[in-house]
Amino acid sequence: MIIVPSLLAANHGRLTQEAQRAQRAGADWLHLDIMDGHFVPNLTFGPGVAAAVRARTRLFLDVHLMCAKPETLLEPFARAGADLITIHIELGDRVTPLLWKIKALGKKVGLAVNPPTNIALIEPHLERVDLVLVMTVNPGFGGQSFIAETLPKIQQVAAWRSAKGLHYHLEVDGGINHTTAVECARVGADTFVSGTSLFGQRNLKSAINRMRKAVTNECPQPFLVCLQ
Ligand code: DX5
Ligand code: ZN
Repeated sequence: MIIVPSLLAANHGRLTQEAQRAQRAGADWLHLDIMDGHFVPNLTFGPGVAAAVRARTRLFLDVHLMCAKPETLLEPFARAGADLITIHIELGDRVTPLLWKIKALGKKVGLAVNPPTNIALIEPHLERVDLVLVMTVNPGFGGQSFIAETLPKIQQVAAWRSAKGLHYHLEVDGGINHTTAVECARVGADTFVSGTSLFGQRNLKSAINRMRKAVTNECPQPFLVCLQ
């Protein structure tokens, strides 16, 4: 199980210190939400911030590009020290070359899908990804409520993983707290992004521990047990 605080909910006046706070609190990875004001109606930060964070933490950097033109951003984020770069299936025909380019840059490859998008669109790409991100809110803003209708999509992505003998991470993002994380784990999610319910808490360490415990107690072997 991988717990991934999202920097979106951190104090933007001190992002590098917030990243260090996540490392000290026992986060497994750090999630960087990159929004361009076009693909989603919000703006966040760019490769400069990623590089500053990279220089001050050892955390695995999980970069989520919610951007209409990721073509121009892959190299800058790779140079900045991203470990994994996720693009969206909603980019259509451009997805395959983008996935190859991320791989060619030596980074792990992620593919995200929004709640209204047909989950079947990701199936042809599964063999070339390291992570599938099933969005559990419509992307753009933190603090939204979990959309329970996404649970069957998570279950489908987990079922493909078993049936095809693949090993990608199954990540969920949006409205994830210690309760909704358990619901997602029951249907096969293993990687939990959370902003408000982690960075939004004064005691990040206890919030991470609480989420980890809730998932482990309910679902000790998410891959095997909870799909039944
Ligand atoms: C939403 C972002 C999320 C966001 C989640 O567009 O992709 O990563 O940080 O925030 P919470 O956990 O507050 O829903
Ligand atoms: Zn995200």
